[in-house]
Amino acid sequence: MQTYLRGRNLIGDLDFTREEVETVLDVAFDLKRKRALNELTPYLRDKVLAMLFFFSSTRTRGSFEAGMAHLGGHAAFIESKSTQISHGDTDKEIGEIFGRYFDGLAIRQVDWGGGNKYINSVAEASRVPVLNMQCDIYHPFQILADLMTIIEKKGRDLKRKKMVVSWAYASSYQKPMSVPQSLILQMPRFGLDVVLAHPPEFKLMPEIMAMAKDEAQKYGAGFDVTDDMEAAFKDADIVYAKSWGAMVHTPDPEEGAKIIKKYAHWITDERKMALAKPDAIYMHPLPADRNVEVTDAVIDGPQSVVFDEAENRMHVQEAVMALTMC
Ligand code: CP
Repeated sequence: MQTYLRGRNLIGDLDFTREEVETVLDVAFDLKRKRALNELTPYLRDKVLAMLFFFSSTRTRGSFEAGMAHLGGHAAFIESKSTQISHGDTDKEIGEIFGRYFDGLAIRQVDWGGGNKYINSVAEASRVPVLNMQCDIYHPFQILADLMTIIEKKGRDLKRKKMVVSWAYASSYQKPMSVPQSLILQMPRFGLDVVLAHPPEFKLMPEIMAMAKDEAQKYGAGFDVTDDMEAAFKDADIVYAKSWGAMVHTPDPEEGAKIIKKYAHWITDERKMALAKPDAIYMHPLPADRNVEVTDAVIDGPQSVVFDEAENRMHVQEAVMALTMC
């Protein structure tokens, strides 16, 4: 168990070693058990987290805010548009100044090509831990919650279990690719055989693909890529299908939107779920485009674990905050 995480940032999924992630999970399970028993967990009494949002959120805001209260501290919700950032506050100034007010800085900045750079730049200037609430490249807290959920449903020994990470059709907007990228980085470290499925234009970032292959090799897990959604679903233990944009293929959002329209048949429905194992679970980070990306029958059906994933966001985030901000 690696327990000395005090002062550390969590920006990319591999910032924490596998052993450190195991510590986070142990603490998260303990916090979840204590909450069920109504035991108090004031590990961060009087500490304050700044939550700086450049993009909308339901789960991330709610779970970080509730989590800080459960730990005996407070979370300050700060929308970038209500700040002076657009009038000149630089990333260095935000890191320097907020680092003096707060005990931790959590940031969501998903602009393609800019979000991760911004968070790292703030972190360089900050004297307190910086936590990535989602950027253009990574969504580490979502994936920690997903891993906790998978362990709850499938047990700790995940070796040779097949996880499909699939692109899915959604017409609402070009969603960030941070969730699939974080999944392919983190899951092989816990033994899951990952199959990534997407149409040709929805490739992930080449450097992330290379890192994911290295992790899979290091931990003896499988990592395959296909453009056949149905073949990918066959005999899967875990189906994780969500939409993302064609930003690697084209930086032009209009062209990306046109490409998406070609793949309306990439929907997760009961017929496709029947290709997976009978006890397969269906996962999605939410929000989902219902009956576009996934049918109501699947997302509200017996195989869906989406509400457990959403709940576990709070427990893993409390664990990371308690370990890094104490
Ligand atoms: N899954 C997730 O990050 O949800 P929000 O965008 O609502 O925070």
